[in-house]
Amino acid sequence: MDIIDYHVNNIQRLMIFSQRKLDATEKVLAKLDPKPKVLVELGGYVGKSALAWATMLQKFQQNSQGNVSEVKVFSMELEPDFVKIIRGFADISGLSGTLEVMEGGSGDSLKRLKAEKGIEHIDLGLLRKGSVVIADNTDSPGAPDYLKYMEAGGEGGWKFRCDRVDVGDEKDSDIVHFAYVEETP
Ligand SMILES: C[S@@+](CC[C@H](N)C(=O)[O-])C[C@H]1O[C@@H](n2cnc3c(N)ncnc32)[C@H](O)[C@@H]1O
Repeated sequence: MDIIDYHVNNIQRLMIFSQRKLDATEKVLAKLDPKPKVLVELGGYVGKSALAWATMLQKFQQNSQGNVSEVKVFSMELEPDFVKIIRGFADISGLSGTLEVMEGGSGDSLKRLKAEKGIEHIDLGLLRKGSVVIADNTDSPGAPDYLKYMEAGGEGGWKFRCDRVDVGDEKDSDIVHFAYVEETP
């Protein structure tokens, strides 16, 4: 993660979860009961957030003896070159057992997740009660349709409670968006 941060801070800005947003997200996830064991990411890019999720889930599930019960991050990425980069980072950081990168469009990968990986509660209807949907870049470049849909609170038996966490400063807001699944059809 430091290598990616160095690149972002010194060479080229990349559209990735900032450390401030990751810290804010960790605080939100740490409050969940039970704590998350599985995280599915749509769009891994070069792996900054995927590596952070893997580290976070391991931390959440570590017992007092330091043993970690099984946790899994599935990061779905369309571009083969990015897939190689994420897998490389996962290998060198010792996270490849926790972080699985799925190559291809996330629509197909979500179907594979259910068919092949035994993740029962994730399908294209996606979520169960207690799940949390984390969304980045909803304010800039923006995802107005997504915000409108989720913040309307759900339809067809779905109920979402949404929260915008602002990690920005007085001049500019910088939002991570959370949608808590409260009811499913
Ligand atoms: C903003 S970047 C993700 C940043 C990453 N989550 C982070 O914070 O480090 C978006 C990524 O989504 C990928 N992408 C776009 N459409 C996709 C799709 N349909 N399925 C899977 N990945 C997709 C792009 O190739 C790009 O790498």
